[in-house]
Amino acid sequence: MKFKALTALSGVLAITAAGAVSADPDDDTLVINGEIEIVTKTAAPEHMEYIDEVMSGWHFRSDETQAFELDDFDNPGMLFVEQAMDVWDTVEGEKGKSCADCHEAVEDSMKGVRAVYPKYVESAGEVRTLEMQINDCRTNAMGAEAWKYDGDDITNMVALISSVSRGMPINVAIDGPAEMMWEQGKELYYTRTGQLELSCANCHEDSYGMMIRADHLSQGQINGFPAYRLKNAKLNSVHARFKGCVRDTRAETFAPGSPEFVALELYVASRGNGLSVEGPSVRN
Ligand code: HEC
Ligand code: HEC
Repeated sequence: MKFKALTALSGVLAITAAGAVSADPDDDTLVINGEIEIVTKTAAPEHMEYIDEVMSGWHFRSDETQAFELDDFDNPGMLFVEQAMDVWDTVEGEKGKSCADCHEAVEDSMKGVRAVYPKYVESAGEVRTLEMQINDCRTNAMGAEAWKYDGDDITNMVALISSVSRGMPINVAIDGPAEMMWEQGKELYYTRTGQLELSCANCHEDSYGMMIRADHLSQGQINGFPAYRLKNAKLNSVHARFKGCVRDTRAETFAPGSPEFVALELYVASRGNGLSVEGPSVRN
């Protein structure tokens, strides 16, 4: 399966099987601060047909990059989490409220929240990402302006909310009212786009473990998001990553926050059900 995909892809992209050692995801284990155990490999959720074991992108990074996540003092993403902590306590908007006024301590009220998003929010009648929920609180509960969907403010806040759920299993619901959107996301995942006619699955399902240019292809999981990238030295949101990957196929991309990307996020999140929340992670 993998080798077939490799030949199919290598015509258009510089994909090569690196030496067996570096091409296989490694077997290291991730424990943050000596206490938060992160499940980085586990049996694939039942709905996945072509992959038996799901793996965090952490396994595909170099030892040096992996090491940043072992301790919060070494994880540059945690600096942005601290910034968001200040924002959590800051009053903004016409109603004179801060996040803390309604939600109190983030480590109590937001524990477990990241693990179940995107989710169908009954009161809103729609599937929401964390970004959508946060902006709803800003505009409706606070009377403040919405943050740019994939801007730094919101991505840092999502990282703060993720950080308090680290180690908990991703568990997004894909049935009931979320099902239609999940199906739409799945279809997008398998649709070939762009001049290169590549789908997400061509790279992240058929070819993970391969080298593409100088990069070690992972399963494209989002349990580690937001991800601090050494490349741009800031936290990157899920939709910003999707946008970059779609661009790489030389296709027109959907906008961050668009219904298509929300559906895709729901589907991709569900491919990581059972992995631990790991964000903010560190990637190259
Ligand atoms: C005036 C009160 C109020 C303020 C201020 C407020 N929220 Fe909320 N927030 C709510 C309510 C009400 C809900 C929905 C009830 C619930 O399920 O917790 C909610 C839900 C949420 C959720 C989803 C929780 C879940 O379990 O699904 C997140 C995340 C969130 N808020 C983040 C924020 C952030 C970040 C801020 C500050 C930028 C903020 N909120 C400010 C009232 C507020
Ligand atoms: C041409 C191959 C290719 C295609 C097609 C592609 N990606 Fe990627 N993607 C990459 C590479 C290379 C990386 C960086 C190395 C890695 O983590 O796999 C990456 C990284 C990612 C990551 C970050 C994983 C992590 O742990 O940091 C996510 C998420 C992702 N891709 C999702 C997608 C989605 C969703 C699609 C379809 C819209 C897609 N990709 C299409 C090549 C591709």
